[in-house]
Amino acid sequence: MNRIGIYDSGLGGLTVLRALQKQLPQEPVLYFGDTARVPYGTRSAVELLTFGREILTWMGEQGVKMVLVACNTSSALALEQLQREFPWPILGLILPGARAAVQMGRRIGVLATPATVQSGAYPRAIREACPQAGVWQVPCPALVPLIEQGRSHTPEARPIIQNYLAPLLSVQVDTVIYGCTHYPLLDDLMADLLPPQVQRIDPATALVRAAAQELDVLGLKHHGTGGGVRFGVSGFPRNFSRLAQGWLGAIPPVEAVNLPMV
Ligand code: SIN
Repeated sequence: MNRIGIYDSGLGGLTVLRALQKQLPQEPVLYFGDTARVPYGTRSAVELLTFGREILTWMGEQGVKMVLVACNTSSALALEQLQREFPWPILGLILPGARAAVQMGRRIGVLATPATVQSGAYPRAIREACPQAGVWQVPCPALVPLIEQGRSHTPEARPIIQNYLAPLLSVQVDTVIYGCTHYPLLDDLMADLLPPQVQRIDPATALVRAAAQELDVLGLKHHGTGGGVRFGVSGFPRNFSRLAQGWLGAIPPVEAVNLPMV
């Protein structure tokens, strides 16, 4: 049974998994969180490419028919090279996210990791989709550690998020992209701190829509019932399992994976 592979530095890819289970519930999934090396958001392109190669080599050995890079930083800095090196379709978040945003507004704020901001990938993709759009980016280095350490809903989170949103509010954006897959896990706080007319874009929905189209075109859709998810991590399975169950409810046992060195 060939699965759809989803990978991220840790918990963030669960937001892509959630979107996939909503739109393609029959598809079997192989989820990998690189929790031993989280966060990815301050890594270099060379590191992200090496990590991506190791993860995709392992996923290939397990049997995948498509991979979703459920990490914006890797999508910005390593996706194109990975697409050249591996035989199955590999999809990332930036293009689907940018296209979804320009359908909603023209003053677009991007919350993302420092490496994603630095890459300029979102402004490029947004302007390609809509040359008239204005784009403002904010690097948010504190958010992934907050989530991965289980501190996202403690009293310290709100002022940190408020601080990151302030530059976007001061230029009156009409749309905000969650440019890191971890940030939709803070959506309740974001919704509370943003004016109600500001659209919040989670690129995962558009990514999964693109994946569904690609599966159709390639005749790769799974037609059986409920595929289920196999979880693997590079760090301690127990930590990931505890936090993931807080977001998803009960999940199957999480495997510890020793990635092949490539
Ligand atoms: C991270 O692990 O810091 C980033 C994940 C992402 O960019 O989506």
